[in-house]
Amino acid sequence: MSAEARPLSVLDLAAMKAAGRRIVMLTCYDAAFARLLEQADVDVLLVGDSLNQVLAGHETTLSTTLDQMIYHAAAVRRGSRRALVFVDLPFLTYQVSVPEAIRNAGRVLQESGAHGIKLEGGSHMAETVGALVERGIPVIGHLGLTPQSVHALGGYRVQGREARSADRLLADAKALEAAGACALVLELVPAAVAGRISKSLTIPTIGIGAGPQCDGQVLVLHDMLGLNEKFTPKFLKHYAKLGESVRSAVRSFASEVRDGTYPGKEHSFE
Ligand code: KIV
Repeated sequence: MSAEARPLSVLDLAAMKAAGRRIVMLTCYDAAFARLLEQADVDVLLVGDSLNQVLAGHETTLSTTLDQMIYHAAAVRRGSRRALVFVDLPFLTYQVSVPEAIRNAGRVLQESGAHGIKLEGGSHMAETVGALVERGIPVIGHLGLTPQSVHALGGYRVQGREARSADRLLADAKALEAAGACALVLELVPAAVAGRISKSLTIPTIGIGAGPQCDGQVLVLHDMLGLNEKFTPKFLKHYAKLGESVRSAVRSFASEVRDGTYPGKEHSFE
């Protein structure tokens, strides 16, 4: 990223798709990583509700709260200047009623400084998406494997494998676009289905386990950095082995503390 790069706006997302420039999105939960991801020219920082799995060790995203999301989103915003910051609305903060969704999404923008929110669900969420967009709250939709419905879906499995469910995904995608969503995350969807959806929309699709024909890609940062070593789904590529690096650095520190070589004179005050 050049020092003069202007901050991205939500309007840039559709422009990037029209220009054939793929969108780079990563999850981000704190200011330190936000600074690093920006320096590496990531377009969108997603404060995912996965933070309760990744950072807090929960099995699912269902326990994440709005206050937790706002706390982490504010940290990510403090660490970033150019990237767009989108924040997941957690389970039960937008499904109960449209007014609740507006109030909760509004809190996220007002209290964290984020640019928009992401929510899960298809045609049944179109009214909510429309109401948020009309009130000036940018929305990214999320289709396919929607983690907040993991129990109803019977686990973390690929969605849209049959013709009927693939058609349903396409109809959902079109409904969210018509409602004003500025992009869609497609999670665990066959590549051909994701390709068909991407071609049918003017807003960009951002895939995770949805093949190469999406208009952008997103991964969970800790997964792609190799910090979550036991999680090895087919779609995931490790771009680093930070788990090993952390263990090795900490072993060195422990050994130097134990044998008295740290701190040395150069780390001590006269
Ligand atoms: O919460 C999250 O991290 C997400 C990504 C998997 C897209 O929604």
